[in-house]
Amino acid sequence: MTQRVLTGITTTGTPHLGNYVGAIRPAIAASREPGVESFFFLADYHALIKCDEPDRIERSRLEIAATWLAAGLDPERVTFYRQSDIPETPELTWLLTCVTAKGQMNRAHAYKAATDANEAQGKDADDGITMGLFSYPILMAADILLFNAHRVPVGRDQVQHIEMARDVAQRFNHLFGRQRELFVLPQAQVDEAVATLPGLDGRKMSKSYDNAIPLFEGGPKALKEAIALIVTDSKLPGEPKDPDTSHLVTIHDAFASPEQRATFRAELRDGLGWGDAKQRLFERIESHVGPMRANYADLMAHPERIEEALLVGARKARAVATPFLQELRGAVGLRSMKAVARTGAPTVAVEAPKLAVFKQYREADGLFYFKLTASDNLVLLQSRGFAEGREAGGWVKRLKTEGAAALADAPVELGTERQRVEQALAAIVAAQE
Ligand code: TRP
Repeated sequence: MTQRVLTGITTTGTPHLGNYVGAIRPAIAASREPGVESFFFLADYHALIKCDEPDRIERSRLEIAATWLAAGLDPERVTFYRQSDIPETPELTWLLTCVTAKGQMNRAHAYKAATDANEAQGKDADDGITMGLFSYPILMAADILLFNAHRVPVGRDQVQHIEMARDVAQRFNHLFGRQRELFVLPQAQVDEAVATLPGLDGRKMSKSYDNAIPLFEGGPKALKEAIALIVTDSKLPGEPKDPDTSHLVTIHDAFASPEQRATFRAELRDGLGWGDAKQRLFERIESHVGPMRANYADLMAHPERIEEALLVGARKARAVATPFLQELRGAVGLRSMKAVARTGAPTVAVEAPKLAVFKQYREADGLFYFKLTASDNLVLLQSRGFAEGREAGGWVKRLKTEGAAALADAPVELGTERQRVEQALAAIVAAQE
């Protein structure tokens, strides 16, 4: 069975070398494994919890998307999308919110840290705390459960959130999964083998420690300047150095082959000066990062290409999410009333909904029309009349392949709420893939 692997990247800030080595590179490598279906997304709704500067959000989404694409993420292979392009995510968030124990959210680390800090300062426990921060783990659970991910690669700090997602999935399955287990129980994957890269001062590389080395921003010059600031001991050129106590060597290792690592160590033991060692390190990193930086610059100069790639990703993601959410709505009781009337039984079984169908026909006025009809005969879309049958056929084809995205252009009227129409179209698109 294919394993679904899903992870989100909160879009605040600009990726640095530590993000690349610790998250981006291993995730892209894992996405190339056979039998793995990867979902990577920009967690931009999560970003809003931490950041109320619209320009920074915009900039960071762009930089992070460009970074992942430049680093070799293949959007054909991976479903790469923005959280905020998936309206099913906030919708599922609400369904999950209704079965999540408040007490459990009180114990979430991020919220707890914030209330503890307030209390330590003698303030009201909830001072300055938003419902966004409080409900953060539920939004994250929705991200994961909507796609029934098996594995979720995350840092240690996020493991509790995955456990909460499992819990809420279990509760939901228990309450509503009479027909079948609705949610897969996700597993956190914390990769101990992946190095956490040290920063300039030897502590974990992190923006909050101000010890980060930029990945692409600022070009080779910024990379060189940052490397010049790596803290070393004060041994002079010619004096033997101990490679095993130098975080400069650890950073070098992350970009070097086993032979290159051995050579670098031997040279340091033989007295290579730190200045020269930094030059070697710069060249080593630059040989990896330089070609990707060129891709990055190209993408940043053409944000419309990034937008296009993300919209394609959103379409792929929604082909999964829309029919699944429809099933979940049915499971909790948000069902079409026509379905109840037809069967006469309010305990109607939740079946996979039948696809809506397009019908093309000609009216007495001589014009060609089409309509989209749901399995309960509700007219979802009604076209205007066309002089040519081909024209009507062309629109049907576009709606079938592009789904709701084509609604903006198509000369049609909606017969019911937009959401129902979008879901029907998404199911049609999904059925063709
Ligand atoms: N909260 C995660 C972080 O800060 C980002 C994230 C959001 C995420 N939704 C997710 C990670 C779903 C994994 C799965 O790192």
